[in-house]
Amino acid sequence: MSERRKLAAGNWKMNGTGADLSEIDALVSGHGDAGCEVLICPPATLITRMVARADGKIAVGGQDCHPAASGAHTGDISAAMLKDAGASFVITGHSERRADHGETDEIVRAKTEAGWAAGLTVIVCIGETLDEREASNTLGIIDGQLAGSVPDAATGHNLVIAYEPVWAIGTGKVPSTDQIGEVHDHIRTRLEQRFGAGVGRTVRLLYGGSVKPGNAADIFAVPNVDGALVGGASLKADDFGGIISAL
Ligand code: G3P
Repeated sequence: MSERRKLAAGNWKMNGTGADLSEIDALVSGHGDAGCEVLICPPATLITRMVARADGKIAVGGQDCHPAASGAHTGDISAAMLKDAGASFVITGHSERRADHGETDEIVRAKTEAGWAAGLTVIVCIGETLDEREASNTLGIIDGQLAGSVPDAATGHNLVIAYEPVWAIGTGKVPSTDQIGEVHDHIRTRLEQRFGAGVGRTVRLLYGGSVKPGNAADIFAVPNVDGALVGGASLKADDFGGIISAL
């Protein structure tokens, strides 16, 4: 049995209102006893209600947090607030945050530390743009983001890495399984080099970018892919259930 528990994570992004919580009911009844861990990261407005509906069978997470514990930061949410609302995970460094909000590796690292300080497991997102891939710079970008965004106190419990090529997000374009495998093997090697084999082997590595029920099994068969971070296909229980079943 693998030392890493498989993880099917859904990122609802800026989608969903109370009416969509029926999807959680369907997930709980259909996949609440899945062998893998199932996580949904809804908009912050839904966290408390989702936790109540998830019945302890599905984990709930935030999509972002502020680096500070509290203070004068209008519109922001701290990691401690996510924890207080019932979240157990938070995503940091998603490419949409990096691109739309100018988040640097340094900011992502600070947010990740804040998540850990609040007791959350942090999913740190990394990934190259199409230009970077076409310039054969994918592994260099991955190295820079890993070194810059991941703090030193990583463990197999507090850290998950999501490899999300920017060009595959919401586009229907998916890297070949060889391309995914190359990057995931590289990330694993870097984690083992930096944190030692004990930690490096236990951090879960998710693939993200246009994962659908139809391609999930092929992606999950790639070594060092421990699950997925899913956007669009996590919004409906039928679609996400198909991905969970493939894991
Ligand atoms: O965080 C998940 C994401 O960026 C992938 O989105 O819609 O391509 O599955 P999607």
